[in-house]
Amino acid sequence: MKKIVLLAILVLAFSCKKEEKEKVANESCAKEKSTGKKGFQMYEMSEMAALMEQMYVDNLRLKDRIIKGDTIGKFPQHFVKIHSAVMSDGKDNDDFFKIQAKKFIQAQELIYKDPVNAKQHFNNGVQACLNCHEQKCGGPIPRIKKLFIK
Ligand code: HEC
Repeated sequence: MKKIVLLAILVLAFSCKKEEKEKVANESCAKEKSTGKKGFQMYEMSEMAALMEQMYVDNLRLKDRIIKGDTIGKFPQHFVKIHSAVMSDGKDNDDFFKIQAKKFIQAQELIYKDPVNAKQHFNNGVQACLNCHEQKCGGPIPRIKKLFIK
């Protein structure tokens, strides 16, 4: 019996802590919209936010390689974590998100399947980032737009 009570307390404490964390990370997405006003602030990123930052950097590097005509390499498998990574706000993982995530992965895969048209596929991939962000998380949009290859 004692063990069960202890477990219950542990579970409670854990879920409470998690909620707090989510709150902080969720604000970060909104905060990005007003960058400059409050300046830089430390916050804990959600798994999804960290994946997004990684995808941003990966796409920046890929853009460089496409422009220079370097080899494209292989599809970065960690991108598929977009289907499962934990978000700051679990409510964001709705049907819209799932459909956009699928389209995004398909667009990114095409770059590697058909490297001759890498530039076109790459830009479609960036557009897929934007299609989701226009609904989900407006803050990073100006940054994402810079990824387009002109
Ligand atoms: C299917 C929807 C979807 C797609 C596609 C998508 N994002 Fe996101 N992105 C989100 C959501 C939702 C968040 C907020 C995540 C969170 O806070 O947990 C986010 C957050 C971010 C952030 C902010 C992370 C932070 O520091 O808080 C950046 C930057 C970002 N995305 C860039 C990208 C880029 C670049 C792409 C394409 C390569 C992309 N996103 C594709 C939904 C998407």
